[in-house]
Amino acid sequence: MTPSDVKATLSFSDGSPSMDLPIYKGTIGPDVIDIRKLYGQTGKFTYDPGFLSTASCNSTITYIDGDKGELLYRGYPIEQLATQCDYLETCYLLLNGELPSGKEKEDFTHLVTHHTMVNEQMQFFLRGFRRDAHPMAILTGLVGGLSAFYHDSTDIHNAEHRAISAIRLIAKMPTLVSMAYKYTIGQPYIYPKNDLSYAGNFMRMMFATPCEDYNPNEVLVRAMDRIFILHADHEQNASTSTVRLCGSSGTNPFAAIAAGVACLWGPAHGGANEAALNMLEDVQKMGGVEKIGEFIKQVKDKNSGIKLMGFGHRVYKNYDPRAKLMRETCHEVLDTLGLHDDPIFKLAMALEKIALEDEYFVARKLYPNVDFYSGIVQRAIGIPVSLFTAIFALARTVGWIAQLNEMIGDPEYKIGRPRQLYNGAAQRNVKAIGERD
Ligand code: CMC
Repeated sequence: MTPSDVKATLSFSDGSPSMDLPIYKGTIGPDVIDIRKLYGQTGKFTYDPGFLSTASCNSTITYIDGDKGELLYRGYPIEQLATQCDYLETCYLLLNGELPSGKEKEDFTHLVTHHTMVNEQMQFFLRGFRRDAHPMAILTGLVGGLSAFYHDSTDIHNAEHRAISAIRLIAKMPTLVSMAYKYTIGQPYIYPKNDLSYAGNFMRMMFATPCEDYNPNEVLVRAMDRIFILHADHEQNASTSTVRLCGSSGTNPFAAIAAGVACLWGPAHGGANEAALNMLEDVQKMGGVEKIGEFIKQVKDKNSGIKLMGFGHRVYKNYDPRAKLMRETCHEVLDTLGLHDDPIFKLAMALEKIALEDEYFVARKLYPNVDFYSGIVQRAIGIPVSLFTAIFALARTVGWIAQLNEMIGDPEYKIGRPRQLYNGAAQRNVKAIGERD
């Protein structure tokens, strides 16, 4: 970390001695004030629920400028990666810090492709779930379950174990997600096929049956690959911070990634794409485009508890750059499939237009986020709404692993252990049961 010449001075109005705090500069983005010695010197903690002003780590992977609407993976703008690279190149970049050469890409693709099968016993593990279980419930279990199958890659402090578990997780996630889907619809699992691309193989495992092969349409494969690239990493969001915190105890990589999957499930995070589509279906049931005004009124009423799902972001207070790219893909997919007249898609476009012009959303800088469009694209491809978040988890796995490995390799790494402002009862004595009120 590069120290700044400037120091922050913390002073107290009660005459307690002031304290100088070092400031560090990143390559870009806000400087950070180092408060690690604060408690030791002052006996005080900082208070920041929701981490609104806290940098929880030092990272070289992803940079977001929320005001400019900028997203960089290892310094490369997301717009360039989404249009000039594929998902596996992006994975290589996130894991290794540099884009692969032709030979490195070939070797990496070969390695991932040759780890896509899962232990056959995973099928029996899956059978324990109800057929109507949510795919994210299944995925949380299956990913955690991997640690019971791959004992040779569970030591998080061993660099070789970390490297092989990274490849296994990236390679097996599409297989696990498609198995979870096939299980819920009662169809046989489709094994991976090595001559297909990462996204093409996933789509075949989803949509082929033993009676009929599936030849993925190139536009749809590109759309799926773009969904993967755009979701691959996003700095210290809730699920990534969960993976780091979970991994900081020294647990195995599969368990740490399972924790990330569980966190991603929530509707304020990865569950937003599913929630956005469900919301569109509810508005459609209310009467569709005609009822948008009424629905927006409910969204603006704080007592209704209704939010416009797929809108707003903690960091982006300008257009989400991923949403711009996803919007482009969305139109390409709807054109290819001739779906522009589908009532849900018409409704989505009308809702987007109205929200972008409405004072409530403009004043609060609430723009569509990536999940608004990715849900529409996935629905058009034929993916059931309940599987959307599992696909987000598949794509984010590489980001989680890159962040986890970065943390373990950091010489300053410690187990994560936040403190608290305690507001409960002060010490008191237990009364005999007959003396309690
Ligand atoms: N619909 C209606 N009002 C909203 C929305 C929304 N989607 N999002 C924020 N607001 C309002 C909020 O009520 C508040 O109003 P006021 O200032 O009058 O109290 C103001 O906008 C600021 O919102 P906030 O809740 O303080 O913002 P936050 O940074 O804590 O929350 C968020 C960010 C993403 C949780 C929130 O915008 C939200 O719940 N959006 C809908 C869910 C969603 O689409 N999530 C996906 C995020 S992108 C994918 C990912 O990274 O996982």
